[in-house]
Amino acid sequence: MAPKPASAIPVEIWGCCRSLVPYFTFILLLCAITSLNQLRYGALHSRCAFMINSGSSMDHIIHLPSGSILSSQHAAAHQASSYNLPPSLLASDQSFISHENRLRILIGILTLADQYQRRSFLRLVYRTQQVPANVQIDIKFVFCNLTKEEQRIWVALEIMLYDDIIILNCTENMDLGKTYTYFSSLWEMFKDEDDQHSESSSSRRPYPPYHYVMKGDDDTYFRLEKLAESLKPLPREDLYYGFVIPCESKDPFKHYMSGMGFAVSWDIVEWVRDSDIPRRHHVGPEDMVFGEWLKMGRKGRNRHNAKWSMYNFPEPPTHCSHELWPETIAVHLLKKEPRWIKTLKYFNVTRNLKPSKLYHIP
Ligand SMILES: *[C@@H]1O[C@H](CO)[C@@H](O)[C@H](O)[C@H]1NC(C)=O
Ligand SMILES: *[C@@H]1O[C@H](CO)[C@@H](O)[C@H](O)[C@H]1NC(C)=O
Ligand SMILES: *[C@@H]1O[C@H](CO)[C@@H](O)[C@H](O)[C@H]1NC(C)=O
Repeated sequence: MAPKPASAIPVEIWGCCRSLVPYFTFILLLCAITSLNQLRYGALHSRCAFMINSGSSMDHIIHLPSGSILSSQHAAAHQASSYNLPPSLLASDQSFISHENRLRILIGILTLADQYQRRSFLRLVYRTQQVPANVQIDIKFVFCNLTKEEQRIWVALEIMLYDDIIILNCTENMDLGKTYTYFSSLWEMFKDEDDQHSESSSSRRPYPPYHYVMKGDDDTYFRLEKLAESLKPLPREDLYYGFVIPCESKDPFKHYMSGMGFAVSWDIVEWVRDSDIPRRHHVGPEDMVFGEWLKMGRKGRNRHNAKWSMYNFPEPPTHCSHELWPETIAVHLLKKEPRWIKTLKYFNVTRNLKPSKLYHIP
């Protein structure tokens, strides 16, 4: 979280967006061709809205502007509702899964407005991951009020492009209740969205908006598919999930889940908003304080200790670290690039790179 020289930011942003221009031009061209074909053959649906690059092994990852990471089945389902087509008209769509039946997970990554580079990096790392067809994982970057003139432009442009940012009503802080503000603001935020979309009942958000809400750090690497797999069989009420602290502990009731990434079910999100316990006591190490609320409120009676699927980076070895291994859900303390590189290499994140004459990466 080292501060960066402000002058570097515009250059990076421009670098990122300029490289997207040919990409979008290509998509637009594809869309134009598809539309022409539709006119000729009277096809009922177009997939252009969601960019499917057929033939690539990546072709069931779709990035919706909302920041959702969905599979192509979702995209097709989404299109069905936006065009009011019955799902049966979507030919290749054998496993239609309605919004209501998906496991919905929100991951809020607490970060700072000025961490432009970290966000663009994390988007790269998360938007290239696949999640199962019946799971929706929304990743949002969460920070407090903007304080600088240039943030109003850069952050607004990021939102226009990715729509994956939550700005809380607070002054930036780590242990003065930012986590409280995050959890206690969600109900109102997702309720409002409900109202805006209620013209047609089919586009209304299901309840709860998310089965599980996670708080993550911006130096944690989550493997989304493993996370979803691990949450799926668990209770959807009164759940408190994560890596239990102290590190030697295997008992999820002793004492609390590490701030690297913990999840709770939606009823606990509502309780945090409504209860006096968190309202009166939210100063201190955020993860420990969160655990104390649940203890005082006798909440989180369903607990899951994800140790050792979640752990600190192996070096230096500590009571909280673990070797990288295939069953990993999250690796924490990825502060500097070499740790990220080692982790991403270990998990073969580039194995789906499509061969092409346009590049060669040895
Ligand atoms: C934001 O926080 C300030 C100070 O805590 C408070 O006065 C204000 O009412 C809040 N605004 C909203 C929209 O909640
Ligand atoms: C955050 O910004 C909003 C509007 O930009 C303002 O109303 C609010 O008081 C600010 N909150 C804090 C805690 O500074
Ligand atoms: C990464 O790929 C190598 C070589 O194909 C394989 O041996 C290894 O098991 C893979 N690692 C993971 C975590 O999937």
